[in-house]
Amino acid sequence: MLARMYVKLCDVSPGFRKFTRRYMYQFLAHQYQKDDWSLMNYGYVDLEPGAIPPHLEAEDEENRYCIQLYHHVANAIDLTGLDVLEVGSGRGGGASYIQRYLNPRAMVGVDYSENAVTLCSRHHCVDGLRFEHGDAENLPFEDHSFDAVVNVESSHCYGSMEKFLAEVARVLRPGGHFLFTDFRNREQLPELDAQLRATGMTLLAQRDITPNVLEALNRDHDHRIDQIQRGAPSILAKLVKEFAGVKGARIYKQFADGSVIYQSFVLQKSAEGV
Ligand SMILES: C[S@@+](CC[C@H](N)C(=O)[O-])C[C@H]1O[C@@H](n2cnc3c(N)ncnc32)[C@H](O)[C@@H]1O
Repeated sequence: MLARMYVKLCDVSPGFRKFTRRYMYQFLAHQYQKDDWSLMNYGYVDLEPGAIPPHLEAEDEENRYCIQLYHHVANAIDLTGLDVLEVGSGRGGGASYIQRYLNPRAMVGVDYSENAVTLCSRHHCVDGLRFEHGDAENLPFEDHSFDAVVNVESSHCYGSMEKFLAEVARVLRPGGHFLFTDFRNREQLPELDAQLRATGMTLLAQRDITPNVLEALNRDHDHRIDQIQRGAPSILAKLVKEFAGVKGARIYKQFADGSVIYQSFVLQKSAEGV
């Protein structure tokens, strides 16, 4: 009942959604500061017959499903030697994966939770990787600073998707790529399509990956429950299970019944820079 009221309020007031989500991510980063929780997405499994899962170092195996979402999104283009920005980098595990495995020249993670940025700078000491505090709707970078912008499961928190997309187009160099994934209620999909079209960027790929995300949540269920039991105060365990999308959580059921759809996109800014 309370959860439904909260979602309704967020729908009618994007400002309320942005404020409350920021408070939640600030709280989580302050409350749990250990480095054994570095990714916060619902994960991905490649369901193509014969698909070979990406090779990961032993230290990354625990986060395999969350990393596979980054692998799916960021491998859409070759990032070797490029300047890459992640907006909404959370606890930094995704940006760290990109820098360590995909060989960009440099990688910057930006998040509007100062606490998360502080944690990231402490936990992820990787050459070429840094973290900054900043708002997706007002990015602290010059025009034409990056070859690629990555955005994973963050945009549903924003006050204005249009402002965010205008910022992506501004900071990308001509010919740069926007590698994007997130979920929306089914009835919000046409609005998202229109918002992406209005950027003037070319849509190179669009996929419904809901079955891939749902399968990741199935396979990662025990790991998520274990993490929650280890890390969350028992009074918050129920809420954190909802947030983590374990089996039985509202978002898990919505992915399963098709009322919420998870998509991935590849867009490209034109070579003329428009
Ligand atoms: C579900 S988490 C995903 C984090 C990370 N991408 C991952 O997959 O682990 C969403 C993240 O987006 C960040 N975020 C939400 N709104 C933001 C905004 N307006 N500007 C920058 N970051 C934002 C949150 O602080 C949070 O870290």
